Amino acid sequence: MTGGGGMAERRVLILGGCGFIGSNFIQHLHQQQPETHITIFDLLTYAGSLDNLGELTESPSVDFVQGDLAEADDFAKLSDNYDLAINFAAETHVDRSLYDADRFVRSNVLGVVNLLLWCRERELPLLQISTDEVYGPARDHQSFDETAPLNPTSPYAASKGAADLMVQTAVKTFGQQAAIVRTCNNYGPRQYPEKLIPFCIHRARQGLALPLYGNGRQRRCWLRVEDFCAALLRVIADFPTGEVINIGSDSERENVAVVEQIRQQIGGSAEIEFVADRPGHDHLYRISSAKFVKRYGEIPQRAFESGLRETIDWYQANPGIFQRLSDSATQTFFEQHYQQPDKP
Ligand code: TYD
Repeated sequence: MTGGGGMAERRVLILGGCGFIGSNFIQHLHQQQPETHITIFDLLTYAGSLDNLGELTESPSVDFVQGDLAEADDFAKLSDNYDLAINFAAETHVDRSLYDADRFVRSNVLGVVNLLLWCRERELPLLQISTDEVYGPARDHQSFDETAPLNPTSPYAASKGAADLMVQTAVKTFGQQAAIVRTCNNYGPRQYPEKLIPFCIHRARQGLALPLYGNGRQRRCWLRVEDFCAALLRVIADFPTGEVINIGSDSERENVAVVEQIRQQIGGSAEIEFVADRPGHDHLYRISSAKFVKRYGEIPQRAFESGLRETIDWYQANPGIFQRLSDSATQTFFEQHYQQPDKP
């Protein structure tokens, strides 16, 4: 996959393809390059679902293998015949990581160590999908580029940072063909509804309180998942072996503004409620995409307010996704975390 060859008639292995960003990427890749053969490897945890693939499960150019990256033996279920691996698989919810750090280490660190070895043995290039959270909180004037030190402040971010270091170590020590992309808060269809945007859409639909941590003034940079996927396709077409590339967004918003738009669009009686802050809550993540822009051109970006409007419409039209919250582990987490009687 090195060079500018694109992915025509390529075989791509997508780890974590049944989750939010992974499934959106597969849809995008299949649409843009239908000749690419896609093999999906996914554990189908609470956050992943074959429903996220829609009709693609029927496509002859898409295979699905159920497996766990943290179980080295599960890799035997795969063939050896791929041109590129992209790893979207991860435990991603910061709040869960506060209670369940070992699960994050297992999936996000051990899983990547196993994957690196397996790819190395096959000389298979690996693109690791990572997060702006590895840089930790930014001060108002700061925007982290790829050389900024890692300064994670949650078990989730620490596990992603550890995985990134494992990838970079493999590049330096073994000359492995691997690269890392770090992105900001993606939003859009099929995100598991424990995350701020779909969670508040679900609550607003029921007229339930919309919980904002602390004063709600924390800021995140929001990138529509379809825009991220389009940017990712460019990275893959010119694979940046050994490098880290940030893919951020210009849409930096306070949480309260995001939730207020949801409240207004859904209507009804839901009100914002300020609740106990998340321990170690990072005030702001901000990354510089200058390296990406220089190398691959401007990042296509839908204006946040219209992207959010469209996203709310999607969840309104696909309310079945909220049934996934009835998963018993999710209910236990909600009870533990929000400690309130009107459970989502
Ligand atoms: P989240 O969607 O969990 O993403 P991340 O923590 O990875 O950025 O949260 C986005 C922001 O919204 C973050 O600042 C935490 C905040 N938040 C709330 O205020 N209330 C909530 O119920 C949730 C889930 C998040």
